[in-house]
Amino acid sequence: MPVAIITGATSGIGLAIAKALVAGGYAIVANSRNITADHPSVAEIGASDIVTVAGDVGDAQTAQAVIDAALSNFGAVDLLVNNAGIFIPKPFIEYSQDDYEALLSTNVRGFFNLTQRVLRHMVERGTGHIVNITTSLAENPLKVVPSTLPILTKGGLNAITHALALEYADQGVRINAVSPGIIRTPMHPDAQHDFLATLSPMGRMGDAEDVAQAVLYLENSPFVTGEIMHVDGGASVGRW
Ligand SMILES: NC(=O)c1ccc[n+]([C@@H]2O[C@H](COP(=O)([O-])OP(=O)(O)OC[C@H]3O[C@@H](n4cnc5c(N)ncnc54)[C@H](OP(=O)(O)O)[C@@H]3O)[C@@H](O)[C@H]2O)c1
Repeated sequence: MPVAIITGATSGIGLAIAKALVAGGYAIVANSRNITADHPSVAEIGASDIVTVAGDVGDAQTAQAVIDAALSNFGAVDLLVNNAGIFIPKPFIEYSQDDYEALLSTNVRGFFNLTQRVLRHMVERGTGHIVNITTSLAENPLKVVPSTLPILTKGGLNAITHALALEYADQGVRINAVSPGIIRTPMHPDAQHDFLATLSPMGRMGDAEDVAQAVLYLENSPFVTGEIMHVDGGASVGRW
């Protein structure tokens, strides 16, 4: 049975990815800061082979606990989905030091802590796949949604997706990214949905399941690495 680690698995995109992987026969190591074995999302994921690890991905101890749980319960890691992330949109000159620390901690340090540990394991095995969840705003900023610090962090993940894919292509490990547009998840208050729907040429928000399908596609595509797959209703291809 293949084994996947998913960060931020209790809500939105991470929850949809976990459900899709369980349907595909994966054992799951699910993380979020507040996850517990009896968290409602764990029942929703519906896996018989699931282990939960609570903790902030920005803390190195969380990353160590996640990989330890994967190896002690399931013996290996085949797929890591770096999904946990936060979004703080505001004009650049209004960001506080706390905003900066929070975005760097979750979106970048969280990626680094877990990816380095998991990649060491995958290189040792000579096989594995890592998918980073970024954002289409990183390549296509929108004037109406100023969000330069999320863009700084997620743009960095896009860049390192390319670089890591090259670095480990001949060692059996693939690194890809899924770059969502605006997706209907608890990240966005209901009151903003009508406005957010205008930010894609399809005139609607995407669903978390759309992002999960892209992760499955990448997972099942052994000759694809270094890909940044846009799931944004066409928002990244031009103006509308
Ligand atoms: N929704 C969108 O429109 C959209 C668009 C582009 C990209 N994305 C990206 O997609 C990913 C998921 O977004 P979403 O919309 O599904 O968000 P969400 O509904 O707010 O869910 C976020 C998940 O991450 C967990 N989390 C947050 N901070 C964490 C931390 N420091 N350590 C561990 N877990 C943490 C949350 O659980 P706890 O509270 O229990 O920690 C939750 O499970 C993010 O990386 C986001 O940037 C989303």
